[in-house]
Parts: sequence; structure tokens; C-alpha cells
Amino acid sequence: MTKSELKRVPEEEMMDTADEAAGYDAMDHNVVNARFVADFLAEHGNSRGGTVIDVGTGTALIPIVLAAADRRAKIMGVDGAGHMLEVGHRNVEEFRLSGRIELRQCDAKAMPFADGQFEAVISNSIVHHIREPETILREMVRLVAPGGTLFVRDLVRPVDQGRLDAIVERYAGNEAPIARRFLAESLLSAVTVGEVQEIIRPLGLPASSVGMTSDRHWTLVWKRPG
Ligand SMILES: C[S@@+](CC[C@H](N)C(=O)[O-])C[C@H]1O[C@@H](n2cnc3c(N)ncnc32)[C@H](O)[C@@H]1O
Repeated sequence: MTKSELKRVPEEEMMDTADEAAGYDAMDHNVVNARFVADFLAEHGNSRGGTVIDVGTGTALIPIVLAAADRRAKIMGVDGAGHMLEVGHRNVEEFRLSGRIELRQCDAKAMPFADGQFEAVISNSIVHHIREPETILREMVRLVAPGGTLFVRDLVRPVDQGRLDAIVERYAGNEAPIARRFLAESLLSAVTVGEVQEIIRPLGLPASSVGMTSDRHWTLVWKRPG
């Protein structure tokens, strides 16, 4: 690491106050979530009749977009934060999707599900919350059914402070100071593509499963052999 490279500073794990949950839900995630779901479906295809699990589902916004895009999809959303799930339940009810989206509270580092239980495991923007990201990635890999898909996306920690400031300016330049601070803290807490590759190697996933997919995101895509 050179002098100017950014050292990782992990942020708080759970987003578990009523204010954080309401604040997160009120932000505009539409473009990012639509792209996440489209990219996932391009890899996995439509539902095969099993269940997709969304790890760190927050207020269930991604399950709602996925349920609309794939009319047969059944989704289990899990999160450790009760306040996020409370808002999530309201969102699911509002879209009348409680028959297809189930929400459960659990710690993503030790999920109460059997090996290979889900036809796909998806996750957006949780890895940077976890002090030891290998714990959660190991759990996600464990849950993928034979022939199923793992699709995980998160922010990348920029190489230096100048790049971090530029991303905050580009994506939160017109937002309130608190929103700019949140994005800056999340970027500083994020892992790099190289760090994800180090984590997945002992799990038996090739380094090529992860790569940059925007100026600020990495995506990990892996299929468990059928
Ligand atoms: C930035 S939000 C992303 C929410 C959602 N995936 C989205 O893209 O809208 C991260 C979520 O991960 C959850 N989280 C963090 N650590 C967790 C853990 N150990 N177990 C379960 N959920 C966790 C937080 O409570 C929060 O809801």
C-alpha cells in the first residue's frame, strides 16, 4: 500500500434506528435497483420455481423490483435490522406482494437455512457493512443450490482520497451534507476487487467471478455446478 492509498475504515454493521430506516427508504434507489435486477436476471434468467434469497434486504426494495420483473419469482428477504424490516413489511403490503415476498430477521453471518436451499442468492450493498466480509460471503456461497446463481454487488473503496471525493461529488454533490458524509463513509468502508478475490479463493470461486461493473461498484457472479 502506498502512502496515498486509502485504508479501510469499517462502518457500523446494522442500520437499526427508525430514523435510519425511514431515511434509507426515502432515498432514491430506483436506477441502482433496476440495474441490479436487470443484471441479475441476465445472469440467472427467470425463476425456476424455487426461492431467491436477498441478503441484507433493507426495506425490501430490491425484492419488490424483482417480483415485478419476474412474475413467478418468490423471494425471501433477510436483514438483521428490525426497523428496516418494519418499513419493508409496509412496502411489501403496499405492493400487495406478501404472497411472494417473505421477510425474516437474522444475522447474515449465520443464516438459519440449509446448504443449497435457494435457487439464487442476491445481495446489494451489505458487504461494506461487515467488519470481516469473508463471514458473510461464505454464508451466501453455502446457500446456493446446485445449478443456482450467486449475485453480489457493493461499492468499491477508491484508490485514494481524490477519487473518493470525486465520486461523492458526482453522485451526491447536490444532496444534503449528511448524505454526502454517508456516501463518503460507505466508500471508505468498502472492499476492493482484489480484496474480494482474496476472500473468495479459499471458498473455491475463481478470481474472474468478480470485477468492476461501474465506476464505483464491484459485482460477484458465480454459478454452483449443477
Ligand atoms: C445499505 S443497506 C442495503 C439494503 C438493500 N440491500 C438495498 O440495496 O436497498 C445494508 C443493509 O444490510 C443490513 N445488515 C448489515 N449487517 C447485517 C448483518 N450482519 N446481518 C443482516 N443484515 C445486515 C443493514 O441492516 C441494512 O439494511
